[in-house]
Amino acid sequence: MKKIKILPYGVGVVGSLIAKFLMEKEGVEIIGAVDVARDKVGKDLGAILGLKKKIGVKISENIESALSKSKADVAIHATSSYLKDTYSQIASIVEHGVNVVSTCEELSYPYISEPKLAKKLDTLAKEHNVAILGTGINPGFLMDTLVITLTAPCQSIEKIEATRVMNAATRRLPFQKKIGAGLSVEEFTHKIKKKQITGHVGLEQSIAMVADALAWKLDRIVVESVEPVVSRKPVQSKDIQVKPGNVAGLKQKAKGVIKDKEVIALDFRAYIGAEEEYDAVTIKGVPEISERISPCVHGDLATVAVIVNSIPKVMKAPAGLLTMKDLPVPSAALEDMRKYVKQA
Ligand SMILES: NC(=O)c1ccc[n+]([C@@H]2O[C@H](COP(=O)([O-])OP(=O)(O)OC[C@H]3O[C@@H](n4cnc5c(N)ncnc54)[C@H](OP(=O)(O)O)[C@@H]3O)[C@@H](O)[C@H]2O)c1
Repeated sequence: MKKIKILPYGVGVVGSLIAKFLMEKEGVEIIGAVDVARDKVGKDLGAILGLKKKIGVKISENIESALSKSKADVAIHATSSYLKDTYSQIASIVEHGVNVVSTCEELSYPYISEPKLAKKLDTLAKEHNVAILGTGINPGFLMDTLVITLTAPCQSIEKIEATRVMNAATRRLPFQKKIGAGLSVEEFTHKIKKKQITGHVGLEQSIAMVADALAWKLDRIVVESVEPVVSRKPVQSKDIQVKPGNVAGLKQKAKGVIKDKEVIALDFRAYIGAEEEYDAVTIKGVPEISERISPCVHGDLATVAVIVNSIPKVMKAPAGLLTMKDLPVPSAALEDMRKYVKQA
């Protein structure tokens, strides 16, 4: 079997980490790359990834020129969080007959916030006989796929709680900026109003995916407003200093409700200086399940892994728009990637 041909689409911080990791993997080759950033277009991908050598793949501004010499099997799409922004990008990939694995948070379960776009993508993917998956660490794994898996040994469930607490100091700079680290409370509030800080995108999608897996018909999903985590002491990351009284990050809760009863509750906290980092899932039911990963899973490393490990599963999946709950049990693809595509 020939090497699996990959097209990175969006080589910002996360797309670059994924591309670098793919270059170390056996059985795959990068055949082109797309990004619109002025400082990237036309450059060799090696330079964008900070490598000392050229790798002979130029960054193209659009998919037509990226695929002019070679067709791709899978595009790794990593540009932005909302489906209304990424729809046309993903549609253009699909129209070229290429499978998509995307970090777009809304795409992880788009049926609630963007049902029309989700339907259009599903139809388009089936027309072109390819599969589309939105995934990552969160949404994509910790607060949905893992939670769903942990319900497997339950006879009955009253309530599911999932919490993620992370020290943002160890995360990439765009993430630290995205959570408002270093701002005054006034600046934070202003940026929230202007939608320049959106909080964690994906809580609604994770709740909807879990409910769907359990065939729970939620009366509503409530995503609470984003709150700043104000630091009492000076804390810092490599790039950002947080003075006492300023914002170290944010917290946000969301819940899924049936008949005024909270049945799914998610609690997300990301801030510089978090002393205890963990991912916890508690299932109140029979039997009771209590799982804690401490320290919490490293978001950037794990996003890269979830995306890359999904490649063979997406290549083998039926055509259409898929979510993590539609794929086989998730697992790592450690060996030559072609082995997992060949597996029966
Ligand atoms: N699900 C998860 O667990 C998970 C985990 C990590 C990240 N994410 C999401 O993944 C996305 C990417 O993250 P990031 O940190 O890598 O962001 P980033 O550093 O801003 O990179 C995005 C790159 O895509 C480019 N781009 C924007 N629009 C494009 C288009 N129409 N066509 C081609 N390229 C385009 C950007 O160019 P410009 O700079 O010129 O705009 C930039 O180079 C974000 O939405 C992030 O929230 C999800």
